[in-house]
Amino acid sequence: AVKRRLSPGNIEALKGERPIVSLTAYTTPIARLLDPHVDFMLVGDSLGMVLYGLDSTVGVTLDMMIAHGQAVMRGSEKACVVVDLPFGSYQESKEQAFNSAARILKETGCSAVKLEGGAEMAETVDFLTQRGIPVLGHVGLMPQLVNTLGGYRSLGRSEKEAAKIRRDAKAIDDAGAFAIVIEGTIEPLAREISETLRAPTIGIGASPACDGQILVSDDILGLFSDFKPRFVKHFAELAPQISAAFEAYANEVKARTFPGIEHTFQVKPKA
Ligand code: KIV
Ligand code: NA
Repeated sequence: AVKRRLSPGNIEALKGERPIVSLTAYTTPIARLLDPHVDFMLVGDSLGMVLYGLDSTVGVTLDMMIAHGQAVMRGSEKACVVVDLPFGSYQESKEQAFNSAARILKETGCSAVKLEGGAEMAETVDFLTQRGIPVLGHVGLMPQLVNTLGGYRSLGRSEKEAAKIRRDAKAIDDAGAFAIVIEGTIEPLAREISETLRAPTIGIGASPACDGQILVSDDILGLFSDFKPRFVKHFAELAPQISAAFEAYANEVKARTFPGIEHTFQVKPKA
């Protein structure tokens, strides 16, 4: 039988069956390692901070997302691949959003895009889904709004905040998103939304009550050890292992113990 990737529809159908598993992927080698273990992988615009050292996701471009989307598609065959629409590539109009999303689908071969936004983006989500582009929503904490939010913190404690997130999630659900990421949202609200929506919710810092979970792969691997937000768990501690490997290499080069005979071409035969 021909192997087929999981589709956005397959992801949607997992609601009520079992928790949906997902992580970020930005590169071919990580996509290869992730592919057997996740239902979908997200080429997140978090790559701006994680790979490029930017202060926020605001500086990420459509060309960057497409290049990394292509790399992730080359490294995967089973998982559904979703690529983030970056800041500035979709907020102006639904037509702008369609053009950007169509470029992503055509140039990477992935099957869906993600965009941040609530009620104000519902018309755009409807426009895209009606025209053949499956959309993963993203409500609650929306990192692309850092300049108007003035920082990152968990949301939903006040009734005003809770009402907005509830309204946003409902609007994106009604607009036809195949799933909705809920970020940085308190447990009772994430639970209520997950129980109410048609689409599965994918939580990041939004409690176990969501229909699935997502995190940044580099975060769960312990690649940055300086700061760990409450919602992240380190499933490995790679940073110290990588540092130790670099230090050992540097020491061996200086001591001339690397490269050894076994790493060397055209070694003179022993007399
Ligand atoms: O950019 C990203 O990695 C995300 C997440 C939901 C993890 O949007
Ligand atoms: Na993102």
